[in-house]
Amino acid sequence: MARFTLNGKSTTVDVDPSTPLLWVLREQVGLTGTKYGCGVAQCGACTVHIDGAATRSCVLPVSAVEGKKITTIEGLADGKTLHKVQQAWIKHDVPQCGYCQSGMIMAVAALLKDKPKPTDADINATITNICRCGTFQQVRAAIHDAAKA
Ligand code: FES
Ligand code: FES
Repeated sequence: MARFTLNGKSTTVDVDPSTPLLWVLREQVGLTGTKYGCGVAQCGACTVHIDGAATRSCVLPVSAVEGKKITTIEGLADGKTLHKVQQAWIKHDVPQCGYCQSGMIMAVAALLKDKPKPTDADINATITNICRCGTFQQVRAAIHDAAKA
């Protein structure tokens, strides 16, 4: 059993406490926007926010989020108003296959909260998500654009 707040809603799941959060989100709760890539905290496809911090959910046991606030890609927009990162992503046509993009967007949203005007060095140090489609240039341009919003 684990209890947490998920995208603003109090949520309880009945699972083994060692179950990775990613699988709880996808299989117990049915939020499939958060993706499974590597399963070993390397690619970033599974990034969500936990108490505002970008966190890779594939290796995090659900017991570690007891009582915490989790935001997934499904909860990033404010109602019908997309988050500024999502808006910049659309403007720059960032996604190709899209598989890595939920995690990428969540990582960038957390970066901009901590550093509203990140430098290229900040981006290199923080956005270590892997995109097999090679959208890195568009990602960088969209981050700088979102930072102006
Ligand atoms: S699936 Fe979690 S970092 Fe790759
Ligand atoms: S858009 Fe395809 S893996 Fe990133």
